[in-house]
Amino acid sequence: MTAQTPYPHPSGQSAPSIPQKFVPRHVAVVMDGNGRWANERGLPRNEGHKAGERALLDVVAGAIEMGIPVVSAYAFSTENWKRSLDEVNFLMTFCGDVLERQLETLKSWGVRIRWAGRRPKLWKSVIRQLEVCERETAGNSVCTLVMCVNYGGRAEIADAAATIAADAAAGKIKPGQVNEKTFARYLDEPDLPDVDMFLRTSGEQRFSNFLLWQSAYAEMVFMNILWPDVDRLVLWDAVEEYAQRDRRYGGAIDSVSKPKV
Ligand code: FPP
Repeated sequence: MTAQTPYPHPSGQSAPSIPQKFVPRHVAVVMDGNGRWANERGLPRNEGHKAGERALLDVVAGAIEMGIPVVSAYAFSTENWKRSLDEVNFLMTFCGDVLERQLETLKSWGVRIRWAGRRPKLWKSVIRQLEVCERETAGNSVCTLVMCVNYGGRAEIADAAATIAADAAAGKIKPGQVNEKTFARYLDEPDLPDVDMFLRTSGEQRFSNFLLWQSAYAEMVFMNILWPDVDRLVLWDAVEEYAQRDRRYGGAIDSVSKPKV
């Protein structure tokens, strides 16, 4: 089936033309600010999450239009179980519902959906829906949307270390052979590129345990806008900022300025 182009942005704007080498291959998105958006309007936090669904879809549309191959969305962290029972219950139901509601649209755009996160504690209904999405979109290749649900960067690294230890004990791997490359193969989505651009909305400036290993050299872009107000234009602004960054990966070159005469 040929993929359909996503619906246009209401403004009619199209993605800025940026040379492909300056377009991030993997964007990590912390969809922050739903609760504040709702509370500022005299609404309970869950209304903000509901309003965030449209933003997520629009950002995926913008990623497709710009040629970004991978978007990872932080939907529920291993620490979010600390929220009120009401909010946790809402988010569990909501995550499954969003996937169910948006599956056909994402499929039609050629999006491949994948899940990163821990199985224990996560509601079975959500796991089932994530697995349906993974199965039904497995053949798509326009863009990959990684739904990070019950995901934690430290948990992912600890789980990888535990599997490596088990493999070493079983004689499948020699401890001395474990290096950064072999370690990365034990992460949740080993075939995906490292995060190039780490985007967090709402003005907060922290990782909150998201894709810690993969973001080692990510460019951080913090936007002072609450998630429900986000659309693809915000993503494109962020990428324009990213494209200006000087990525050195630890290297450096001399550029001595000429003395002023
Ligand atoms: C991390 O900040 C942020 C998240 C894990 C994102 C939470 C997002 C949602 C619940 C909305 C999901 C929306 C859709 C459309 C699926 P934090 O608040 O957990 O961390 P902090 O306490 O350090 O700020």
